[in-house]
Amino acid sequence: MPIEQSATRIDWIAQSCRLLTATAQDFSRTRPFAGLTIGTAIHLEPKTAALLLTLQAGGARLIATGNLNSTQRETVDFLRERGIEIIGGQTVDEGAHAGFIEAIVSEQPDLLLDNGGDLFACAVRRPYPRLRGGTEETTTGRMRLLPLRQEIRLPLLVINDSPIKQFAENRHAVGQSLFESYLRFTNRSTNGKRVTVFGYGACGRGTAACFRNAHALVSVVDADPVTTLEAHLDGFATPLREDAIRTADIIVTVTGAPAVVTARDLALLKDGAILLNGGHLPHEIDVPALRADERVHRVLSHVCEGIETLELDDGRRIHLLAQGHMANLAGPRPLGNSAESMDLGFTLQARCLERVAQGGLGEESCIVPVPRDIDAAVASAYLDLHR
Ligand SMILES: NC(=O)c1ccc[n+]([C@@H]2O[C@H](COP(=O)([O-])OP(=O)(O)OC[C@H]3O[C@@H](n4cnc5c(N)ncnc54)[C@H](O)[C@@H]3O)[C@@H](O)[C@H]2O)c1
Repeated sequence: MPIEQSATRIDWIAQSCRLLTATAQDFSRTRPFAGLTIGTAIHLEPKTAALLLTLQAGGARLIATGNLNSTQRETVDFLRERGIEIIGGQTVDEGAHAGFIEAIVSEQPDLLLDNGGDLFACAVRRPYPRLRGGTEETTTGRMRLLPLRQEIRLPLLVINDSPIKQFAENRHAVGQSLFESYLRFTNRSTNGKRVTVFGYGACGRGTAACFRNAHALVSVVDADPVTTLEAHLDGFATPLREDAIRTADIIVTVTGAPAVVTARDLALLKDGAILLNGGHLPHEIDVPALRADERVHRVLSHVCEGIETLELDDGRRIHLLAQGHMANLAGPRPLGNSAESMDLGFTLQARCLERVAQGGLGEESCIVPVPRDIDAAVASAYLDLHR
């Protein structure tokens, strides 16, 4: 049998997302989005392609843009060929990104599939009557949109608050993929290295565990003393913040908060320390302030590797991965979280959008977790496919 050489990574991921495939088959019969437009701003990479095609199978017109610094050209080309409208392209420019968001909202989609709160925040500034509600994927988006609840007043289901998303993606997959990204960017080992993880929420717990499993000595710093106690009882070192920075060979931020590592910490950082971020926004490590600090006399960019080296007057060198953007979705051949974890999370997305499209949810469902029956149905369907 001759070997066909044409299959792409998008095909491989589509095969790996078995739950989305089954959901698309169901949607092509039930057509929950017939006549509706869904606007989205989400990482445009092969796994989201599987999600968008599932929604399209349900009859939706789709108009999409990426998040900052995570748009993959092949995915954009693939989606355009299949009739999905894509606004903009890969950018790290926040102004350009804001323009893409405005362009999506100007189309007045019936439903919004948001990832970080950009779309709903824009729809609050530019309201339109046709909007029925939608979904938000992340913790960061929930925190940002909560103060706008009185203005949104539409069903808005937060995928991040599903227990399935919490354990399948945040706890198990983010740690694996941040660990994989550290190896992929640096080609350096973790054995015997001292790693400090900032944030011991779902993502931080998995990250700390993955580095520990790879024979690193892991310390945890969390702003919340109760969570820090949990890390301590889980067997991680929990030194004071300054000590945790001073001793670290590798620092990973996964908090969702800004300015976790700043230029003030330059005095503490060890020669050769490597800094990477897994939080949604590129503000956890204050990269502009680190670069601009007067103690830095040269910034050396290893462009192909996605690594920047800050050379300090005292001879120390500090390395930044992906300019502080989410390391698992940046750099050479970014893979993101595992296909299985995203298959689960995106099936929750698809089923929640179906629920919002059906109507029947009122404004009391604004910024609430995934309905329990959807969690149960998605869990059962996944188990049936994987037994
Ligand atoms: N990279 C990815 O693929 C990916 C996937 C899912 C979520 N995320 C992002 O990861 C981040 C964390 O998500 P989560 O679900 O773990 O959130 P979480 O709310 O469960 O946990 C965050 C933890 O960080 C701690 N924290 C806050 N500010 C801190 C600070 N300045 N110093 C130390 N600790 C601090 C909090 O006390 C909390 O324990 C969010 O930005 C989220 O959007 C990234």
